[in-house]
Amino acid sequence: MPRHLLSLLMISALLVGEDFAEAQQKLANYDESKIPPYTLPALLKTQAGKAVTTADEWTHMRRPEVLALFEQHVFGKTPSAATWGKVDFQVTEVKKDALGGKATRKLIHLSLPEHPAWAGMDVMLYTPNGLGKPAPCFVGPSFNGNHAVSPETDIPLSTRWMRASKDKNIVNNRATEASRGSESSRWPLEMIIDQGCAVASYYYGDVEPDQAEGWKEGLRAVLSQDGPATEWKEGDWGAIGAWAWGLSRIADYLETDADVNAKQLAVIGHSRLGKTSLWAGAQDQRFDVVISNNSGEGGAALMRRNIGETTAVITKAFPHWFTKTYVNYANQEAACPIDKHMLIALAAPRPIYIASAVEDTWADPKGEFLSGLQAEPVYALFGKKGYGVTEQPAIDSPVGDAIAYHIRTGKHDVTDYDWQQYLKFAKRHW
Ligand code: GCU
Repeated sequence: MPRHLLSLLMISALLVGEDFAEAQQKLANYDESKIPPYTLPALLKTQAGKAVTTADEWTHMRRPEVLALFEQHVFGKTPSAATWGKVDFQVTEVKKDALGGKATRKLIHLSLPEHPAWAGMDVMLYTPNGLGKPAPCFVGPSFNGNHAVSPETDIPLSTRWMRASKDKNIVNNRATEASRGSESSRWPLEMIIDQGCAVASYYYGDVEPDQAEGWKEGLRAVLSQDGPATEWKEGDWGAIGAWAWGLSRIADYLETDADVNAKQLAVIGHSRLGKTSLWAGAQDQRFDVVISNNSGEGGAALMRRNIGETTAVITKAFPHWFTKTYVNYANQEAACPIDKHMLIALAAPRPIYIASAVEDTWADPKGEFLSGLQAEPVYALFGKKGYGVTEQPAIDSPVGDAIAYHIRTGKHDVTDYDWQQYLKFAKRHW
C-alpha cells in the first residue's frame, strides 16, 4: 500500500463523523471492475417465497413487507400518531409582497402541545400570487434554516444548533447574520414561483441536531417513553426517520392551507436529506411525487455496489442516521434483506426522479441509476413506464417517465439545472 494511503488510513481511524467520512472519500474504491459480484434481493417475491404478479399483490402483500424490512433493518420504525398526539400550527407571519410581489411568504410554527419539551419547527412557505387556484407544492428540508434558503433578509435567524461550517458562516454552531442566503442557490424560489408552484421548507435541525448525540436534544428523546436516557434498540427510528417525520408534519399543515393543493405535493431532498426525502416518500403517500438529489449511500445508491461510500463508512460516520440494526450490514451487505431498488419501488406507482452529478463519485451515480432501473418491474405492474433505457444516459440528458433520471455536469449540489428538470417532471404529472 502506498505510504500516503497508509497514513491516511491511520489518521482516519482517529476521526469521527463528517471528518471520518471525508477522509474515507480519499480511500474509497472508485473502480467499477473492483466491485465484487452481488445479487439483489428479489423485489417481486414475498418473504415466504410467493411470486408477486399483480399491482394488487404488490400493494397489499409485498409493499407492506418491504416497508417493514426498511423499518427493521435501515431507518427504524416511525412511532404511531398516538405517540406525538395533536399537532399545532401557528402562522406567525404572512408577507403578501414577498419576492418583489410575486409570492406570499408564510412562516408557520409547528409544535406538539402534548410534548412541550420539543421546541417545535418553523416552516417557511412561499406560494405564487395571482395563480387563481391552490398551488402544487415542493416540500423539502434545508441544511441551514429558512434564513439560509431565502434571499430575503427579513426572516428570523435560526437560533438552533448547526453543523460547523466556515462557508456558511456558522460560528460556535450557530447561524450568524452572514449566514443569510447561504443555501439560496439550492432553492431557486423565483424560478419555482414563476412556474406556478409553491415551496415549503424547514430546518432539519429543528427536529434533531445532526450529530451522534443530537437525539438527546431532539424529538426522538422527547417522544421516547423512557426519556433521554434511552439506548436505541434495533428497529427504533434513527435521525433520518425523525427528519422525514418533519416533512410529513408539513404535509399535515399544507392540508389546512387554502393556498396549496395538498393533493399535489412533491417531496425533495439533497444528499443526506435526499435519503430523508426517499424515506418520507416511502412512508407517506400524500407525497405524490418523490425526488432524490444526489442521495447516494443510504439513499438511492445500491448498497451492494462497493464503490464510493459504503455501508461500513456511513454507519461509522453517521450511526445516528439509521436504526441500530443497519450497522450489522457493514461489510455484510449480502446479508441485508433489502437493497435500494426496493426503496425506490416503495414510491410506486407515484412518479419518482433520481438525480446524480458526474463529479459526485462518492454517491455512486451508477448505483443511483441502477436502483431506479431495478425498481421498474413494480411500476410495470401498475402499467407505468420507467427509464426507457437500460444504460446510464449521457451527461445532462434526462430520461424516463414515471421513474426518471439524470446525471448532470458538476459536483455534489443542487443547481438550477436540477430544478428545471424537477419542475418539468412534476408538472407533467400534476
Ligand atoms: C457525507 C456522507 C453522505 C451524505 C453527505 C451529505 O458525504 O458521507 O452520505 O450524503 O455527507 O449529506 O452532504
